[in-house]
Amino acid sequence: MPGASTTAALNRAVHRYSHAPLAARAFVHGRAFLSDLALVERYVPRKGYVVELGCGHGLFACLLRESSENRRVLGLDPDARKIEIARQAAGDTDGLRFEVGDAVSGLPPRCDAVAIVDVLYLLPFAEQERVLRNAAAALVEGAPLVVKAQERRADPRYALTYAQELVSVGLGFTKGGRSRFFFPSRDEAAAMFDRAGFRLDVVEMPKRPYSDVLYLARRKPV
Ligand SMILES: C[S@@+](CC[C@H](N)C(=O)[O-])C[C@H]1O[C@@H](n2cnc3c(N)ncnc32)[C@H](O)[C@@H]1O
Repeated sequence: MPGASTTAALNRAVHRYSHAPLAARAFVHGRAFLSDLALVERYVPRKGYVVELGCGHGLFACLLRESSENRRVLGLDPDARKIEIARQAAGDTDGLRFEVGDAVSGLPPRCDAVAIVDVLYLLPFAEQERVLRNAAAALVEGAPLVVKAQERRADPRYALTYAQELVSVGLGFTKGGRSRFFFPSRDEAAAMFDRAGFRLDVVEMPKRPYSDVLYLARRKPV
């Protein structure tokens, strides 16, 4: 369960979007109350420089900053319209910045931790691995990579995951530019993290009706 302070931080993060266009506001509210971002936040170090890849409108980055003033946060996303909305939400907050950036073709800056929330399934597996390798290049040995993702399983939760994403893309909320999604099995994900240079622990997200998991990865020695 998230503590009262994380809930308050999430409410403050959402409030930052009160002047955003209606569609973005609706999306951010949906993300805030359906995605269990508070659980993800708990696994991100409370101090240091955190880079979020595929930050979208920036809600999770705002939550990271709202819940600890000892974090500096950079959010990167290739969608310039989302980054504009994220920048308006950040305003002139110290230590919270958003830039247009692609996690497949660009290396993140050196940092203390990387976070990726609900992004990888939009990318073919070879590109997912490229993103993980890029994250590894930005981290020192032992530093964390926190990934919220969904797994392919023989489970009704997986069917619901796929259906929900089809609806989200159909309504225009998620633009991956592709006609299908790429959910790895647990074994495929573990092998991908290993090849990219990470040790992996997996945390289930039972509050979610989908096949969501948290991949808690640590940079292996080079
Ligand atoms: C479902 S949204 C999640 C956004 C945000 N992480 C959140 O939790 O609200 C997926 C995001 O992945 C971004 N994305 C797609 N391809 C990407 C890439 N190659 N590099 C970085 N981000 C990408 C999209 O622009 C979109 O904002």
